[in-house]
Amino acid sequence: MLGGAEAQGSADTASGDAARGVDKSVFGQLPDGRQVDVYRFTNANGIEMRVINYGGIILSLKTPDAQGEFDDIVLGFDSLEEYLSDEYRQANPYFGALIGRYGNRIAGGQFSLDGETHSLATNDGDNHLHGGRQGFDRVLWQAEPFANDEGAGLVLRYTSEDGEEGYPGRLETEVTYTLTDADELVVDYRATTDKPTPVNLTQHSYFNLEGEGSGSILDHHLTIHADAFTPVDDTLIPTGEIRPVAGTPFDFTQPTPIGERIEQDNEQLTFGKGYDHNFVLAEQTASEPVLAARVWEPDSGRLLEIATTEPGIQFYSGNFLAGDLIGKRGQAYEHRSGFALETQHYPDSPNQANFPSTILEPGETYRTRTVYRFSAQEEAPGS
Ligand code: GLA
Repeated sequence: MLGGAEAQGSADTASGDAARGVDKSVFGQLPDGRQVDVYRFTNANGIEMRVINYGGIILSLKTPDAQGEFDDIVLGFDSLEEYLSDEYRQANPYFGALIGRYGNRIAGGQFSLDGETHSLATNDGDNHLHGGRQGFDRVLWQAEPFANDEGAGLVLRYTSEDGEEGYPGRLETEVTYTLTDADELVVDYRATTDKPTPVNLTQHSYFNLEGEGSGSILDHHLTIHADAFTPVDDTLIPTGEIRPVAGTPFDFTQPTPIGERIEQDNEQLTFGKGYDHNFVLAEQTASEPVLAARVWEPDSGRLLEIATTEPGIQFYSGNFLAGDLIGKRGQAYEHRSGFALETQHYPDSPNQANFPSTILEPGETYRTRTVYRFSAQEEAPGS
């Protein structure tokens, strides 16, 4: 096992496999002078991931295509300045970041708990989105790298104080990224609190399996193991209905190109400006991750499979990307040039009695796991 100090510079893992490793270097400085570090992980098959302790942001993820050629499949930047720029903060796409306390929206930035009304920061019109103005995507996490027999990774810890962004209770959060030699990125989330509070943690990477900056994601074939979704109003707050996907453009139970129905005349697609919806996963278990979604890109053959213990997944087709942010290879991130699949509880659950609860009580431990599996194949996969 590598301790934090040993992982300074370059180090091989305990198994002695020279191909695997962790290294750490300085990425930049926050305006208040605190240092931001970048950690680079490589697995036994050459998959490489870089993560920073600011926002827990995944900067890059290089995986092989069906020919064995590696490319970076997540959107992002190469410098801290770009993540801190006014332009980026206004566009607010949350590239690669950890999201908390509450991924997705809470209506009117308000909810009641045990008879008390709590007001949260509103940062999406009148609604609260992705934890508020200074969500977990914009805080400095304490980071500790590790390596073990399964792979290498990073434990990130952040304590959100009572009242932060309006939330009750002091929340101690721990997120672990593990890049395994089975070509998986395993994300484990844990939290404890000293007062009841809503918690809904997620990861907001945008993928383009042909390579970031290579254009539209509309030709990617998507499967989501969901028979239903939660329709929204025009501010993207769920109406409370659980609607079957059958016969709608939201039916991804069979592999379907993302773009095939995205321009259909459909009120939900109009409200979302495309797909920006929570899917109700068909099989739900809180103990072991189950396959939720699969995405295959025909030119590269790259296949991404996502398994989770969460009951929902937000499929966002990058509708707010507008070509004004320039990514790592100097290409503008145009409309729908990346997609996010955010494993989560349903949006606005604190105000929706029929949705699974997101309230964490003192004495309980919040625990969820999401696994991203990377592979490549020339043939389209089955459902
Ligand atoms: C989530 C939301 C979207 C949007 C993106 C970031 O996917 O549901 O509406 O806010 O994050 O732009």
